[in-house]
Amino acid sequence: MHIDHIGIAVTDIEEAAKVYKLMGLEIVNIEEVPSQKVRVAMLPLGESKIELLEPTDPESPIQKFLDKKGSGIHHLAVSVDDVAAELAKLKEQGIRLINEEPVPGAGGALIAFVHPKETQGVLLELCQHE
Ligand code: CO
Repeated sequence: MHIDHIGIAVTDIEEAAKVYKLMGLEIVNIEEVPSQKVRVAMLPLGESKIELLEPTDPESPIQKFLDKKGSGIHHLAVSVDDVAAELAKLKEQGIRLINEEPVPGAGGALIAFVHPKETQGVLLELCQHE
């Protein structure tokens, strides 16, 4: 396992990427993820990525986060081989999940979120790449 990416809630992807770009990181992909109502930019960093998340809709969970807490670190994503299997394991232990089933994420990944109450405040994303 490794950290797949760190998700950061931002109001403006280009503005948010400024410092990373000056440091030599690059946005390799920008896409919309309708399931999360966000525009997502990925900046590879070693075996991980920085994921900049910009809301596309007032009902976006990211917009709600921005309204409540302002921009900043939103979630931690861990790469797993099989999201559905991990979810089943956690569910069996009574762990509260945001997504009971995997949903499509950025870059064609299958993702699911664990409730932050179960991790002492960290929104944890499980992320499976094809
Ligand atoms: Co993410």
